[in-house]
Amino acid sequence: MAIIFDEKLQLFHLQAANTSYMMKIYRDGYFAHIYWGNKLRNAENYAEIPEVERAWGAHPNSDDRTLTLDCVPQEYPAYGTSDNRNPAYHIQLENGSTISDLRYSSHKILKGKPALEGLPSTYVESLEEAETIEITLTDSLIKLDVILTYTVYEKLNVITRSVKYINSGNEKLKLLKVLSANVDFKNDNFDLLHLSGSWARERHMIRTSLRPGIQSIESRRGASSAQQNPFIALLSKDATETNGDVYGFNLVYSGNFVAEVEVDQFFTTRVNMGINDFDFSWLLEQGQSFQAPEVVMVYSGKGLGEMSRTYHKLYRTRLCRGQFRDKERPILANNWEATFFKFNADKIKAIAKAGKEVGIELFVLDDGWFGKRDADNSSLGDWVVDRNKLPAGLVQLAKDITSYGMEFGLWVEPEMISPNSDLYRSHPNWCLHVPDRRRTEGRNQLILDLSRVEVCDYVIKSISDVLKSAKITYVKWDMNRNMTEIGSACLPAERQRETAHRYILGLYRIMGEITSAFPHILFESCSGGGGRFDPGILYYMPQTWTSDDTDAVERLKIQYGTTVVYPTSAMCCHISEVPNGQTERVTNMDMRCNVAMSGNFGYEFDLTTMGEEDKDVIRKQIEQYKEVRSLIQFGDFYRLLSPFEGNETAWMFVSEEKKEAFAAYFRVLGRPNSPFIWVKLQGLNPNYDYRLIGTGKVYGGDELMQAGVGLPYVLGDFYSQTWRFEAIF
Ligand code: DGJ
Repeated sequence: MAIIFDEKLQLFHLQAANTSYMMKIYRDGYFAHIYWGNKLRNAENYAEIPEVERAWGAHPNSDDRTLTLDCVPQEYPAYGTSDNRNPAYHIQLENGSTISDLRYSSHKILKGKPALEGLPSTYVESLEEAETIEITLTDSLIKLDVILTYTVYEKLNVITRSVKYINSGNEKLKLLKVLSANVDFKNDNFDLLHLSGSWARERHMIRTSLRPGIQSIESRRGASSAQQNPFIALLSKDATETNGDVYGFNLVYSGNFVAEVEVDQFFTTRVNMGINDFDFSWLLEQGQSFQAPEVVMVYSGKGLGEMSRTYHKLYRTRLCRGQFRDKERPILANNWEATFFKFNADKIKAIAKAGKEVGIELFVLDDGWFGKRDADNSSLGDWVVDRNKLPAGLVQLAKDITSYGMEFGLWVEPEMISPNSDLYRSHPNWCLHVPDRRRTEGRNQLILDLSRVEVCDYVIKSISDVLKSAKITYVKWDMNRNMTEIGSACLPAERQRETAHRYILGLYRIMGEITSAFPHILFESCSGGGGRFDPGILYYMPQTWTSDDTDAVERLKIQYGTTVVYPTSAMCCHISEVPNGQTERVTNMDMRCNVAMSGNFGYEFDLTTMGEEDKDVIRKQIEQYKEVRSLIQFGDFYRLLSPFEGNETAWMFVSEEKKEAFAAYFRVLGRPNSPFIWVKLQGLNPNYDYRLIGTGKVYGGDELMQAGVGLPYVLGDFYSQTWRFEAIF
């Protein structure tokens, strides 16, 4: 049993493989947090919450000065009833008051894991895989029920949380803040890790010390964003890749989010996470409910690497869905960096054909195939093929390309509308906007108002028509700007601040309907690269374009940071021309290949301009990738050397039974008189012997992990090296 309720102690004990999470019904029905960390058998003594009188405390019971909620670790803290820390929620009543008081009222334990209405979430394939507890907290004055749901994936060692509000009273409630999870830690001996960046510099690892006050990681852009990923972790000060305590939080949501870490006056730490309350509110009328998204919480007592591998496995197997979840992903060629908007059918076919000749399996036609789109200033929303560029249409192009023996894929950007489009001319109010204000454009485009049902219906129909019209087996779903003037022509004044969340609900409906109507299509999400690389989108689309920055050096940090949470099977990595479009850097082909080979592999080249010698190089790269593809996409991932700490990066993949491994090393700048380098591997079986493919040399697993594998003494910048090992018996 993964969830135990100790009646006597009023203690709930959630137990996963190596994790315990405990909470209890405390005095007067307050719901307290007790423990999260390494698995315990029980914690009878630890479950006692110290009760002492603290100066400046306010007391819910006037005759007892030892109880102040400011000192009680809590699961879902309120504002205004003696806890002055950052609350997990905040609601407004009809009389204007923002005080509420939630107390435990009941609980229910169930097998499996119910889906969240309208929202993506992790799932089970059989009831035995997980156990769920629903704890109802009630504000009896206004008859508001708040259900805290916790699921324990016992084997996967994961706990998920979400929250649902049900208004059973007879007044309208305004939800001002509705976070999904709150954890109160007993001290502040932690570092905070988060993944920050920008367009073309996504998910850089940032590790800082906690300090008194609130540190907040958030997005107000209408998307999870390249600037901050909806992930944070608390790390014990001594935590490394292989040691120490790590507590990860990842929100399964693609819109505005917030993660706040507060160190209070007593040096305790409160972490909470959910939909950003900035510019948000939700009117909850009598009988209505509101579902907040899921937070996936992973504890590792063995460092960051183990936390990452836990997320990877869960997301690979119980977040991503569909036929491609467990399938090897195709090696693709995309024409974007090769042609941008300037192409015709002959050029596209020539690139595809050249791709086929070197072993590429899928050709993707990127932006510019529809409407009158010769630049980024028109036609989004008009999903009709441009006959000037493709006179025989998509049907014929797909036929031609598939006749070469490859798959055909297409780029779309369904959430957008160009002011210069037939769609905008007929529906000028279908975009997000506010009355009488400027409509600020980004990349010459506006955003469709997906809070409106008819707009979502249009997107579903127009995109489905395209997907039905030709033999398309892959879609790159792009989204190239963030929100401004967030408002909807259809919502009443009191619901305008619901727009951004309603947009995300509309988007999820669209993605859900389209991906289930076309199960044979592999969907890849993209947002100007990795601007929406989050678990919400991965639920619908199992892979994401990691970044528009394909420079091999920049990609080291971007890919390394991405793997902190997301599996390599979700990470798309392509080789492109040099000098690189984003950095103007010239790196060698080996380095570019070895970096791109560490995810779903592809090319952004104009293959028609390449000589036979270069094509041979590509042929070999593709053969090499095919040999390790399943290991890279489905093996366990280990980070060995961090690009955030120096000139060298290394990582590796190990098969589940530890019989195969693939490791990669990268050195950015060469150094004179450098020491000889041995890279220590991880994740192997110390008792196995491994043969290095290529040389035939045999190494002990213990030797590779404790002593390492040696690098040749080579000078020069942008040096990289890969190793493939197989266990011998
Ligand atoms: C941004 C994407 O990240 C690129 O790969 C490309 O698809 C362009 N959009 C097309 O407009």
